[in-house]
Amino acid sequence: MTAKIAQRKQDHLALCATGEVGFREKSTLLEEVHFLHNALPEVDASQLSLDTLLFGQTLRAPIVIAAMTGGTVEAKRVNLALAGIAEARGYAFGLGSQRAMLVSPELKHTFQVRGVAKTTIVLGNIGVVQARDLPTHVIAELAEAVGATALCVHLNPAMELVQPDGDRDFRCGADTIERLVNELTLPVIVKETGCGLSRHVATVLHGRGVKHVDVSGSGGTSWVGVETKRAADIGDAEASALGELFWDWGIPTAASILQVSSTGFDTVIATGGITNGYDVARALALGATAAGFARPVLQAFYENGDAAVHRFFDAVERQLRAILVLTGTQSPSALKHAPRIIGPHLAAWATG
Ligand SMILES: Cc1cc2nc3c(=O)[nH]c(=O)nc-3n(C[C@H](O)[C@H](O)[C@H](O)COP(=O)(O)O)c2cc1C
Repeated sequence: MTAKIAQRKQDHLALCATGEVGFREKSTLLEEVHFLHNALPEVDASQLSLDTLLFGQTLRAPIVIAAMTGGTVEAKRVNLALAGIAEARGYAFGLGSQRAMLVSPELKHTFQVRGVAKTTIVLGNIGVVQARDLPTHVIAELAEAVGATALCVHLNPAMELVQPDGDRDFRCGADTIERLVNELTLPVIVKETGCGLSRHVATVLHGRGVKHVDVSGSGGTSWVGVETKRAADIGDAEASALGELFWDWGIPTAASILQVSSTGFDTVIATGGITNGYDVARALALGATAAGFARPVLQAFYENGDAAVHRFFDAVERQLRAILVLTGTQSPSALKHAPRIIGPHLAAWATG
């Protein structure tokens, strides 16, 4: 089991660093959010702050480095580097699934980043299917062992169905989430993994007491795609055929934000195909609190280490500030009031 999980984590990093695992036909639809230009902005660009409140803490920008890894020596190297960057830049940092730690407690150190991220928000991570079969105190210990500020409970049925040895029994998800929300003392974020949350799921979650979600919508990394490639590599023709068909399954990130943002959550993180500061601004305009980046950050890291990740985020912040100026908006959170035109495809998803 341990060796299998380690191999899977290694495959995921390798495929996401260099493989063709993006959505093929479907986009995030963020490109259908057109801000109205403000020729009289009345904003001093040098005075603009990107400060954003998340879980009672002030981030220096509305940015999360989203859940990716843990459980191997290489994963530890990635976690420490990216968590250190999150700390230096005042962003939140998400750990990958802590399942490996459950199976092999000696792998705990590959998730422990508090040494380099003493103050910033660190998000723990566990799948709802694993959480279902564990008593709450074990999950509380998982979160405590990494000094988590909040715990992401991830949902990934599409990916599991394509994964040759994936989970097939998705019952009791809502009950599990309600139990964790009621019994854990830290905030619970319910997070998809690239297929998005619908209005229906958002309503169910809200009814179970969930206050925080990460839509992780479609248009960026296709996790069906990642598992399809793994299935093909090991010669599992049936799994890879299924994956080819469902490669683009899911709700575009922009549509998912629109679908969940009227539900009344305290926090909506928008992950899934966020590639630059323009995407961040568009996500915030639709109702997100902050935006999350996964694969683009990993790719920058593998291209040229910490320096490339800093360059990437310098550009993201520059782009976000430019949008604030050009829309005459004083702060990231005020972007939700910025005048915009919504394109026809996104409008159709919003009402669907
Ligand atoms: C290498 C890698 C590993 C990931 N592992 C996890 C994970 O363990 N748990 C999780 O909730 N999401 C995981 N994700 C999903 C991301 O957090 C994110 O929701 C998804 O990749 C969409 O964002 P992107 O388009 O910016 O990559 C992973 C993503 C990457 C790139």
